Parts: sequence; C-alpha cells; structure tokens
Amino acid sequence: MQQVDSRTEEVHFGGKLRLYRTKLGLSLGELAKLVHYSKGYLSRIETGEKNASKGLAVRCDEILQAEGELILAYSASGVGRRPRKKATSPIQLPPTARHFTGRQRELSHVDLDVQKQCADRAGTARIMVIDGAPGVGKTTLALQWAHRHAAEFTDGILFQDLHGHGPEKEPLGTHDALAGFLHLLGVAPDAVPVTVRERAAMYRNLVSRRRMLMVLDNAATADQVRSLLPDTPDCTVLVTSRNRLGGLVARDGASRLTLEPLSPDEAATLLRHASTRDLRDENPEALRHVVRLCGHLPLAVRIAAEHYSTGQYSSLAEMITVMESNLLEFLSCLHDPASSVRTAFSWSYQALDEGVAHAFQVMCAHLHKEITPRDAARLLGVPAGVATQRLDALYQANLLVPTEPGRYRCNSLLAAYAGELSDVPAGSLSCICGCNREVS
Ligand SMILES: Nc1ncnc2c1ncn2[C@@H]1O[C@H](COP(=O)(O)OP(=O)(O)OP(=O)(O)O)[C@@H](O)[C@H]1O
Ligand SMILES: [Mg+2]
Repeated sequence: MQQVDSRTEEVHFGGKLRLYRTKLGLSLGELAKLVHYSKGYLSRIETGEKNASKGLAVRCDEILQAEGELILAYSASGVGRRPRKKATSPIQLPPTARHFTGRQRELSHVDLDVQKQCADRAGTARIMVIDGAPGVGKTTLALQWAHRHAAEFTDGILFQDLHGHGPEKEPLGTHDALAGFLHLLGVAPDAVPVTVRERAAMYRNLVSRRRMLMVLDNAATADQVRSLLPDTPDCTVLVTSRNRLGGLVARDGASRLTLEPLSPDEAATLLRHASTRDLRDENPEALRHVVRLCGHLPLAVRIAAEHYSTGQYSSLAEMITVMESNLLEFLSCLHDPASSVRTAFSWSYQALDEGVAHAFQVMCAHLHKEITPRDAARLLGVPAGVATQRLDALYQANLLVPTEPGRYRCNSLLAAYAGELSDVPAGSLSCICGCNREVS
C-alpha cells in the first residue's frame, strides 16, 4: 500500500488515521466495528479532539496496513507523556580520527562505486562492504567518507556498532540493532514492535524514500546486516567488517573494498602527525623502520606514536631496540584493551573454529613466506581438502592474504601474534614447506 509521508513535521495521528482509512475505502462505521470502538469516538480522534490509546493505534496500524506509520504518528504525538521525538533527520555519527592520513585512493574508490551503483540500480540501497584485517582502519575510512559526504544525506545518518569483534561476548542481535534505529527514527520505546520481522518492516517503511546513510560498523556476518538493509534506492549503506562477508556481495549486490595496511609513506606521515614530539630531525630510515615493524597497520603506528610522545625514548633508534626485543608487548602496553594490538588480534582469533584456530597458530606463526594448500596439508597433517578449507576460513577472516591464486601470506604482526600462541618451533614451516620466496 502506498505510504503516507511521515516526514511532515507535525505528525497528527488523527489526520493520518483518516488518510489510511479512506485509502482502503473504509467508512468510519466500518472501522469502528473492526476496532471495537464507537464511530463517534473514532471521529473525535480523527479531528484531534481526542487522543488515541496505544492499543488502538497498534490495532488501527494492523487493520489499515500502515506498516508502523500509525504507531509512529501515535508515538510522535507525545500521548501518554512520552517525550516528543522528531521523525526526521537523525544524525548519529562518531567523530573522524584526528590526523587522518592518506587513503585518497580508497576514498575515491568508495565515491566512484557509490556513484556507479546509483546509476546501475533501481529499487535497492547502495551497499559497500569495507573489509580488512584487525586495526587496518576500516571504521576510520567509513567515518571519514561519511563526514565528507554528510551534506548529501539530507534525511539523516545512522551509525551502529554491531559488535562483530570486540570485548562484548556476542555480536549485537538484529532485534536490538533495529530497536536502536527505530528509536533514532523517532519511535518511542513502548511503540517498538516485538518481533524482528515487524521491527524490520517498520524500519524499512520509515526510511523508504529518504536520502539517508547507514554506517553498519564491525559486522560479524552477512545475516546480521541483512535485516538492516533498506530497500530503497535513496539510501546508501557502508558496512565494515573483519570478515569478507562474501554473501552480501553475492546475494545482496554489495560491492567490496578490502583495505590494505597504509603505504610506507602514509604510515611514516601518520607517525609524524600523531606524535606530539617533533620528528623532523629524525633519520627518515629510522622512521621507515618503525612503521615497517608496525606492519604499516594504522593501529600499531598510532600506538608507537603514543609511546614516542611520552618522551621515555631519547631517539627513534632507542625505541626500535625496545620494539625489536618484544614487538607485541611494546604494541600492547598502554593499559587500554582498545589500544592493544594483542587484544585486537585476540578478538579475531577467539572467533575462529577450533580447527581453523589451530591452523592459524601453526601456519601463521612462521609465515614470512608464502604457503599453498599442499604445504598446509603437510604441515597440519590433514587431507588437502581440509587444509584448503582452513586456509579459506583464514582468508575469509582477513587473517591471510592471497598473493596469487593458491598462495597466501600473513601480515608480519599477525605472524608475531600467532607465534606467541604457537608451540611450533621457529623455522619449521620453511623446512616443511620448502617455500623459498620471501614476502616483504
Ligand atoms: N587513515 C588513518 N589516519 C589516521 N589514523 C588512522 C587511519 N586509519 C586508522 N587510523 C587509526 O588507527 C586505529 C585503528 O583504526 P580503526 O578502528 O578504523 O581500525 P578497524 O580496521 O576498524 O579496526 P577493527 O578491526 O578493530 O574494527 C584508530 O586509532 C584510528 O584512529
Ligand atoms: Mg572497526
């Protein structure tokens, strides 16, 4: 059924009730019979002389197939001393990172892709998945793009951390994520429907024909995201995840940007900008060495910058000596789990199935070289098919990177982390695999 526009500033329940009733061709008397209220009472509600109860609003919404519009109008009318909520233009966006550095190519990629989807698609939202390794800068990139383009989303921006990887025990349920969005869209808590299906229908209805941006950050699975996808071409959705979420690309028409670590130059610039100490007189080679040890991962570079800023090291050379003696300890000792490379990695590791976690420990610990499924099978003592599946699971979790078809490597910091977990003696992989190609 065609919707009544919910964007009108003054949401008048009675007016909307009349509109929906007449659209279905029902007389007041007929509606009165269906909802078990008197015709006169309903008439006074329609003219605004009387307020509807919540029960009546919900019943009318169902009978008149208003898909939540009437509940929203009831909720926005402030009946029952509910705080008045605006049904328009929620802007909910965390700030961008300080000293945002580089990523011009990636930002342009998102621009072009969103434009292309705009031209290609008719009835569905534009969806972009930004995936990549832990701490590589996915959220930061999505927020940077969102802030740059905020003015284009005239009907608002919604942001939700879906807790895919983090200190929370479980990813955020779709049920709760939808409730959060409905609340931001002006639905009073007691007017939020009970089931996921109803919540999703109300959410889709409220965002339909609105020019909005949704940032679904830190998603665990494609399924978690699906109920939060609007089915309107005016909305754009940015999803970030440590997982590749191939299903969103295959089934929901999302496009993908897999984020790599910063380039060496970008990482060195970030180190310079994020450090409160002047690094201009430092040897450029020392700067490059620090960021190389950080695997050019922005999270690690920022932690190194913070260490250097404290003044406990007289020079970068001195800091490099400490980094080289125990890199992960150095990158994990700011007494803040969110600023610890080890903790960030552990959230990915703990999400792996047992066999895959074992493969990560055994294979990645010494992966300064590439590995093939045949090497993996020999190393893990499993059939080739199982080894291939485990390599693929690590690739899907962005813990391994393919270098060419059938060959993978592991980022140096993840390899160091796997080494801590592993009891495989250093060097054994190269003996078993016989690989001889070094990967930087
Ligand atoms: N381009 C950048 N410029 C400056 N700082 C950055 C950049 N990218 C990331 N950072 C910083 O690096 C840290 C990690 O970034 P972010 O949280 O975006 O990574 P992530 O990939 O989303 O991590 P996770 O996998 O845990 O979700 C943050 O402190 C962020 O401010
Ligand atoms: Mg993130």
